[in-house]
Amino acid sequence: MTTATFAKGLEGIVAAETQMSFINGQKGILEYVGIAIGDLSSHSTFEETVFLLWNLRLPTKSELEAFTKSLRANYALPKGFNDRIRTLPKDAQPMHVLRTLVSELALYDTNPNANDLEAAREKSLRVLGMAPTMVAAFDRYRRGLDAVAPDTSLTFAENFMYMLNGEKPTETMARAFDICMILHADHGLNNSTFTARVIISTLSDIYSALTGAVGSLRGPLHGGANEGVMHMLNEIPSLDAVEPYIMGKIERKEKIMGFGHRVYKAKDPRATDLQKLAKQLAEDTGNSDLYAKSNAIEKIMERELAAKGIYPNVDFYSATTYHCIGLKLDLFTPMFALSRLAGWSGHILEQLDGNRLFRPTAQYVGPHDVPYTPMGDR
Ligand code: ACO
Repeated sequence: MTTATFAKGLEGIVAAETQMSFINGQKGILEYVGIAIGDLSSHSTFEETVFLLWNLRLPTKSELEAFTKSLRANYALPKGFNDRIRTLPKDAQPMHVLRTLVSELALYDTNPNANDLEAAREKSLRVLGMAPTMVAAFDRYRRGLDAVAPDTSLTFAENFMYMLNGEKPTETMARAFDICMILHADHGLNNSTFTARVIISTLSDIYSALTGAVGSLRGPLHGGANEGVMHMLNEIPSLDAVEPYIMGKIERKEKIMGFGHRVYKAKDPRATDLQKLAKQLAEDTGNSDLYAKSNAIEKIMERELAAKGIYPNVDFYSATTYHCIGLKLDLFTPMFALSRLAGWSGHILEQLDGNRLFRPTAQYVGPHDVPYTPMGDR
């Protein structure tokens, strides 16, 4: 046994090997399988990116076609599943709904525990294909509408928007959505990915691992921060109010959502890409005030906190982007989850391939040799 060291929050601890994404937090670099994230967001598609993450190489044309076809074959929910979604409380939060339904998919799988690599891939594809259908169906039921059946002629991004809105998105909106999906697909051993790997390391099942990951992502220190950013933007009434609002938070030592990162001590490269997208979409959709406020927040934060290595993270400009795409606030984090399912699944495959159980140690800091006090003497 090696000597135990304690790092709060596991900071700096290498807990797994991955070939999927590389992060240089000092320089603000992110690569998927060696390809710069900016190149992927400019030239790739979400489907191709998922293939890349799961196979550690770009597909040929026919491989991409076959992969896309099998993903689309999983868009439709199991028989009876829509009825189940209809029974959920209309005021339930979509992240709780997604977590519950990913878990419930196991009940509609005749062999839910199979976790050999081939089965793990099939189940990952199943959850990835069905998750947008579940989220969109819930959103429509809570609005008193019927679910829209998935359209297998559409891409992952187009299909989700189609099922939400009942009409096909414009090319610009679909591309913007697709870029968001690419940017959020994987990110090293972040908390939710670690959660998925920890769960699957017991040789539990894919559904359990992905369910746990959704639960982790929901937290406001992780994927839930994008909703926090939007709340903040809504709370700031005008551009002039940005300075006192942010300075007040800094003085009260409150965290500003969408800033700071355990790994990045420079601007998150995904934030750079999303900023461009947010600016363009804000202009196109009459939301320039939202972008202007975001940009003003970034400038103040740079002036005040850049010396501490606090810069915008992926969640900061994604809030404006999602708002301009027309997503409701409580669908921001589910949208992140739909994309990150790709990364979680890829990591589950990596973990299963040469698995060793995660079982760290806790440093006991409590008392010893305490006499047992009988009930009457306490
Ligand atoms: N606003 C103001 N100050 C901050 C922020 C922030 N957003 N983030 C960190 N700091 C400060 C802390 O107050 C602390 O200051 P101190 O040393 O004077 O006490 C210092 O920076 C270190 O902060 P920690 O919280 O210890 O850093 P950690 O690495 O544990 O946390 C985290 C990283 C959780 C992301 C943090 O920066 C944060 O809470 N950010 C806001 C939430 C957020 O945007 N989360 C999304 C992250 S990206 C993702 O998960 C998809």
